[in-house]
Amino acid sequence: MSFLELHDIRKAYTLNHEENVILKGINLNFERGEFISILGESGGGKSTLMNIIGGLDNHYEGEVRLNGRSLRSMNVRRMDRYRRETIGFIFQNFNLVSYLNVLDNVLLSLKMTKESHAQQVRRGQDLLKRVGLAKQAHQYPNELSGGQKQRVAIARALASDPDIIIADEPTGALDSENTQEVMDILYSIAAEGKLVITVTHSQEVADYGTRIVHLDDGQIHDELVIGAPFDVVDKPQMRYRTLGFRQMFKMSMQHMRRMWLRYLLIIFGSSIGISSIVVMLGLGSGIQNYMNHQITSQVNPTAVQVSKKTGTVSTKDRKNATTAAEYKKAVNQEQVTAAKNAEFTDTNAKQLTKLNHVKSTKLGYYTSAQANYQKKSATVTLQTDNPTILGKTIKDGARPGTDQVLIGRKLAKKIAGKKSYKTALKSKLTIKLTTVDKKNQSVTVNKTVTVSGITNSDDTNAVISSTTAKSMLEKQNVVYRPNFAIVQIDKLSHVKNVEHQIKAIKGDNKKQAYDYTGIGDLVDSLNTYIRLATNVLTGVAGIALLVSAIMIIVVLYVSVSERTREIGVLRALGARKRDISHLFFAEALTIGVLAAVMGVLFGQGWQLLGNMAIYSLIKYPIVRISTTAMLGGVAVSVVISLLAAMAPAHMAARLDPVESLSHE
Ligand SMILES: Nc1ncnc2c1ncn2[C@@H]1O[C@H](COP(=O)(O)OP(=O)(O)O)[C@@H](O)[C@H]1O
Ligand SMILES: [Mg+2]
Repeated sequence: MSFLELHDIRKAYTLNHEENVILKGINLNFERGEFISILGESGGGKSTLMNIIGGLDNHYEGEVRLNGRSLRSMNVRRMDRYRRETIGFIFQNFNLVSYLNVLDNVLLSLKMTKESHAQQVRRGQDLLKRVGLAKQAHQYPNELSGGQKQRVAIARALASDPDIIIADEPTGALDSENTQEVMDILYSIAAEGKLVITVTHSQEVADYGTRIVHLDDGQIHDELVIGAPFDVVDKPQMRYRTLGFRQMFKMSMQHMRRMWLRYLLIIFGSSIGISSIVVMLGLGSGIQNYMNHQITSQVNPTAVQVSKKTGTVSTKDRKNATTAAEYKKAVNQEQVTAAKNAEFTDTNAKQLTKLNHVKSTKLGYYTSAQANYQKKSATVTLQTDNPTILGKTIKDGARPGTDQVLIGRKLAKKIAGKKSYKTALKSKLTIKLTTVDKKNQSVTVNKTVTVSGITNSDDTNAVISSTTAKSMLEKQNVVYRPNFAIVQIDKLSHVKNVEHQIKAIKGDNKKQAYDYTGIGDLVDSLNTYIRLATNVLTGVAGIALLVSAIMIIVVLYVSVSERTREIGVLRALGARKRDISHLFFAEALTIGVLAAVMGVLFGQGWQLLGNMAIYSLIKYPIVRISTTAMLGGVAVSVVISLLAAMAPAHMAARLDPVESLSHE
C-alpha cells in the first residue's frame, strides 16, 4: 500500500450535451519523500487531476486513497480536515489574499492550527525567512514581484505542515531565474520527506523531480524515475482546529479596512435609515408627552367628576297652587326634591370607590351664588375644594382654608379690575346664595370670606373648603347635601375604563345612575391619533431601512463576486463552508453595529437641533428619544444587516471551490 494511490480515476465534463472525457483512467501511486513532476500539454487534464487529489473536486469515478482510506468514505467535515491538514496548495497565479499582508497570508493557514498566536507568528516568520522574504513580512501582495508572491504562497502552503504539497504550474507565470528559486524550494520540501506533486508543461521544470509522469489526452503515457525518493523522518504531528467566527471576523475587519470608503458610505447610508426611525419614535413620544403635559397643566385627568343623573322634578303642585303661599311652598318643595335627588350619600361614595382602578372618592358641593366685592358683584359657580383643582393652576396665593375663598383670574378681573386684579388677594369677599332651609322656607345665606388665592381659570368660579360650605349653610338651618363626587383613578390609562364603569352603573329605576365629566376619552383619542401618526412616520422611515438593507445586499453580493477566488483559496486551505458564510455575516454585523451607533448619534444630533428650533415656540422639548428607542434602533439595524447578509453569505458558502479558483 502506497501513501497516496489513484485507482482508475475518470472524469468527464458535459458541455452542451456533449460529453468531454478529460481523465480516462489514471492509476498512480505516490510515496512521501517523492518529488513528482506531472508533465503534459495544456488542456491535458493536469489541473483537473490535482483538484481531485486535493479534495476540491469529488465528481469523478475511481478512487483516491490516502494510507489506504478512500476519500469517498470521508464526509464533508473530514474532507475539510483533509484539505486543512494533509494538503498544501500552490497555484500558478499565486492566489494571495490581496488585502492581507505577507505575514497574514501565511498566518491564514496557521490559524487553522492549535499553536498559540505567538507560536504562529514565529512559525510564519521562520517560513518567510526560509523562502527569503523575512523583510517583506508587512508588505502587501501588490508590492511584490511574481517570484516573491509565489514564495509567499509556498510559505502559506507549508504553514500547516501538510504531508502533500500540490503545486499546479507553480512557475507558469515566472521567469527562469524565479523558476529556479521556486523549484529549489520545492525540492527542499520534498527532501524533508513530504510528497511534492508539481504540474508543469515544461520538461526543464519536470526535471527537478525524482519521478516524471507524462499525462496526455487524459492518460498516463509513461513514468520515469530519475532520482531516489527522500527519507521520511517522523516528526511530531501538528494539532489542528477550524477557523471559527473570531478569525473570520478579524479577516473581515482587515478586508473592510482596505475597502474603507465603500463601507463608510454604506454605513453612512444605513445610519440615515436608523436615525430617521429613532427620531420619528422620539418625535412621537415627545408629542405625546407634550400633549399630556398641556392637558395635565390645566386639569387633573385622573380625577373624574361624577354627578347624579336626576330625572325632572314634578311641577304638579306648583301648577295646582291656588294661592301665592301655596305656589311658593311648591317651588321650595321642588328645590328640596331636586337637591335630594342630586345628593351623594356615603353609600354612593362607597359604590364608586369599589370600582376597579379607583383609589378614592371625595364628595363635594357646588351651586350658583353671588360674589360681592366692595361695590362690584358677579355671579359665580361656588364649589368646594377638590382634586380637580390643581395646585399648579394657583398662580397667586394658596388653597382656601376655613373662611377663605380661591377665585379664578377671570372673576378677580371682573371684581377688582383688569390690571389690578391681584389686589383682590387677601381682601374680603361676600358670598350670597338663596336656598331652602329645613323648614321649607327660602333663606339667603351670607358669608364673608378672605381671598386666599387666584387661579388661572377662565371660569367665574369661587372655591371654598367643604368645612366653610357646611358651616355657612348649617348656620342658616340648611342641610349640606354634597352633589358631586370626585373619583381619583390610579393612572391615566385607566381613566377611560373607569368612565365606562361609571356609565354602566344602574340606579333604582334601571337607568344610568351617574354622569361624569372627565377627559379620559379626549386623552385616549389624542394618544391614539399620535400613535397612529408615529406609526405612519416610522413606517416611512422604515422605507429608508429597506433601502439600506438592499444596499447592504448589493454590496455583499459585489463583495462575494470580487472575492470568489479568495473563497476558493480559503476552501483549498481547509476553510469550511460555514467559515465562508461567517466572513460575510461578520461584515454585515459590523455594518449593522456601526450604522446603529452612527444612526443613534445622528438621532441625538437631530434631537438637539429640532428641540432648539422649536423650543422658542412651545417651550417644550418636542423630540424625546428614549433609551428604548435607541436600543430598538440598534437591534433593528443589526437584525436588518444580518438578514441582508443571509443570501450573499449562503451563496458564498455554496460556491464550488474549483470554479471559484478559476474565476477571472
Ligand atoms: N468546469 C469545466 N467545464 C467544462 N470543461 C472543463 C472545465 N474545467 C476544465 N475543463 C476542460 O477540461 C480540460 C482539462 O482542463 P485542465 O485540467 O485545466 O487542463 P490542464 O491543467 O492540463 O491545462 C480542458 O479541455 C478544459 O477545457
Ligand atoms: Mg492547468
